Amino acid sequence: MIYLDNNATTPCDPRVIEAMLPHFYEQPGNAASRNHALGWLAEQAVHSARQQVADLIGVAAKEVIFTSGATESDNLAIKGVLQQYRRKGNHIVTVKTEHKAVLDACAQAERLGAEVTYLEVDEHGLIDLGELEEAIRPDTILVSVMWGNNETGVLQPMQAIGGICEKHGTLLMSDATQVVGKIPCHPEEAGVHLMAFTAHKMYGPKGVGALYIRRRQPKVSLAAQLHGGGHEQGFRSGTLNVPGIVGFGEAAAIAKKEMQEEAGRLASLRDHLEEQLFQQVAGSRRNGHVEQRLPHVSNIAFQHVESERVMMAFGQKLALSSGSACTSASVEPSHVLTAMGLATAEAHSSLRFSLGRFTKREEVDEAIAIVREGVEQIRASSPVWEMHKAGEP
Ligand SMILES: Cc1ncc(COP(=O)(O)O)c(C=O)c1O
Repeated sequence: MIYLDNNATTPCDPRVIEAMLPHFYEQPGNAASRNHALGWLAEQAVHSARQQVADLIGVAAKEVIFTSGATESDNLAIKGVLQQYRRKGNHIVTVKTEHKAVLDACAQAERLGAEVTYLEVDEHGLIDLGELEEAIRPDTILVSVMWGNNETGVLQPMQAIGGICEKHGTLLMSDATQVVGKIPCHPEEAGVHLMAFTAHKMYGPKGVGALYIRRRQPKVSLAAQLHGGGHEQGFRSGTLNVPGIVGFGEAAAIAKKEMQEEAGRLASLRDHLEEQLFQQVAGSRRNGHVEQRLPHVSNIAFQHVESERVMMAFGQKLALSSGSACTSASVEPSHVLTAMGLATAEAHSSLRFSLGRFTKREEVDEAIAIVREGVEQIRASSPVWEMHKAGEP
């Protein structure tokens, strides 16, 4: 099986698994047990992991709060800010192409009385900075813009967005789930006050994430959403997932060391993938900005082919993701691609290729051949494609 679905989740790096193992059995302590050596060991392990994660994003360890994943971090940031800063205002600005963890948290904020402005993106997936500035009002308490898009890899200009938020005295939150550990990502430098990310997109385990909360200039605060033992400085109660956190720390340390070289390798593999697909498959084109994007993601539309059908054809051999999302009732076109102006049919004809640390060039070559064959097979039985070739509209 060729795995090109690394934006859905990455395999856990064997070095990460090795670091986690002692914390399942030999060192079972609860990091909050202050009365015995096993508790101290667990506390020390969490302390080191927090430092490793903080080092990766260039912040102080006390500004990193561990959660169960990016979904929880997004929810904590949005609902926590709304509750904490309600007296200042109740307006939030976000973007139509955000992940559902942000969009659904914003929808819940609306149900709680907030007003949310959803910014449009252009055909490349980028927001307009002028529109952002116009959308910010005196009662805006939060701007939430994702750093890199999970479907297209498109990177928003966070530095410029940070500058605008600073000028208007608004908090800026960013979902950087797909960016952390892949390319340098420094919230403080970009003027980001809150940043959500997760271990399982950077070769760590599933079920552990983090929220960066700026603690100086300005000192950001949040209303907790989980109440209990007052863990994580009171921001997030609940017994810490020590093995998961240790794995997250190790994954962060590995990424810090290897990320730069790895990003270069992945960008050249991705460019090879695109070049070959565009050359070998007629009617294929890229979705998203060609330069402002992550090195390992490529989203490609194959004209007059339903991507769901291609995936069904080779799902046993190749793991990819389509430009559609299955909801309980139906298959919906991707909200990201439609926000970029793609018609429903075009969104349904798109495939996301997300490469990773363990992707080899031979696998990319094999994937190109599989996709080409799949597309050709489907088109061979498609009257629409025949009409298109014959120049009919
Ligand atoms: C951009 C983005 N945000 C949030 C999430 C959710 O992360 P988690 O699975 O850790 O809750 C994902 C993962 O699908 C993502 O890609």
